[in-house]
Amino acid sequence: MSTVEPTEDYDPFEDFNRSAGIGVVEDPYPMFALARQQAPLIKQDMTAAAALDVDVATEVAEDAADTLDFVDLGDMPNVFTAFSFDAVQAVLRDGEIFSSKGYAEVMGPVMGHTILEMDEPEHHTYRSLAQQAFSRKAMEHWERDLVAPIVDEHIDRFIDRGRAELVRELTFPFPVNVIAGMLGLPREDLPQFHRWAVELISVGFDAERGLRASAALYDYFQAIITDRRAAPREDVISVLAHAELDGQRLTDDEIIAFLRLLLPAGAETTYRSSSNLLFGLLSRPDQLDALREDRSLMGQAIEEGLRWEPPLLNIMRTSTRDTVVEGIEIPAGSTVVVNMGSANHDERYWGDHPDEFDLFRAPRQHLAFAFGPHMCLGMHLARMETTVVLNRVLDRLPGLRFDPDADPGFITGMVFRAPNTLPVVWD
Ligand code: HEM
Repeated sequence: MSTVEPTEDYDPFEDFNRSAGIGVVEDPYPMFALARQQAPLIKQDMTAAAALDVDVATEVAEDAADTLDFVDLGDMPNVFTAFSFDAVQAVLRDGEIFSSKGYAEVMGPVMGHTILEMDEPEHHTYRSLAQQAFSRKAMEHWERDLVAPIVDEHIDRFIDRGRAELVRELTFPFPVNVIAGMLGLPREDLPQFHRWAVELISVGFDAERGLRASAALYDYFQAIITDRRAAPREDVISVLAHAELDGQRLTDDEIIAFLRLLLPAGAETTYRSSSNLLFGLLSRPDQLDALREDRSLMGQAIEEGLRWEPPLLNIMRTSTRDTVVEGIEIPAGSTVVVNMGSANHDERYWGDHPDEFDLFRAPRQHLAFAFGPHMCLGMHLARMETTVVLNRVLDRLPGLRFDPDADPGFITGMVFRAPNTLPVVWD
């Protein structure tokens, strides 16, 4: 399988990091803790801030809203940020009061009408069609025949060197290879496909480029859909091409919107979450040793990585009527920034040392995959991919540790978070 390599004039990794604000914010969690002390939900409003005397909390709320590049504050008089676990969960649980339609304005032009921006009952109908391809059962086949070989191929390239930069050489490229494999795309198309994928989500800072990539992906996918309608294969595009809704096949537009969503939803999140987990473990060699010795800890290590440093901090909802959450009144038409990162560190829910990575923490529901009707469709895939990559790394790179001669880097970002580098050596 061919993989994505930077070319002379274009490096998708650099471009994507630029679009996600990587390198800008190192640790927002102390600010989130201050915000939680003030209120479970905070309105971004100078009058309210003065009443509460909480400049810092307001700054946090503003930062969170500002960095959501799809929120146009000029058009939105009321912006709230949910910081506490209970507030975040309450907003996400109720898809009727807290609609996802706000995504249409910002992502619609590049993605089309995706399940991300649908409300019930439409959302449920379309989500059900795609669900079978992402069930836990479906993962067995993808794990053996796709994910494990892809991970091994990447490791093969650097294993003889004794040192590697694991973000660039493993965690960044492997998830997009997995998605391309699940879609059944020809191997030689992969570099171009990844480039379009990154350009599509660069729409926030380069609209023209995002729209161009969106159109290119349309033509590219349409040809493949036509092919799969005529001759189905064992891939996700074939499943979608033959899925029926009230006796009707999905249209090309509907399928292409879903496929465009899979790229940012599936590849960029998983690259970040597996990098964050590796960073957490490499920074705590005792916990890395414990996991290496006892792989039954893998599940809780993965969940703790997702809790501790969720790859995506914020998502967004719009209130459809006047309502009250955790005692805070929210008028109809408000934008609610849902801070899952803050919820995952709420000391009232998690107890001691919520800012620390601790794989022995008593397991509880975290919110990295969100909650409620839009809870991540790809979570079984993400967990399986991370399990495979961690197991292969631990099996094949004995004594794995940070390279003592290199800067170990740090986790950075305000909307998306990941380490900027993972330089490692092994025995
Ligand atoms: C660790 C990795 C991942 C994380 C943390 C994550 C997180 C999330 C979150 C927070 C949402 C909710 C978004 C919202 O409602 O505003 C979501 C939705 C979604 N995710 Fe993931 N995701 C991950 C991996 C994946 C993968 C691997 C795929 C598939 C290839 C995927 C596909 C989707 C889809 C299709 C949705 C939309 C679901 C809906 O609207 O009903 N995700 N994800």
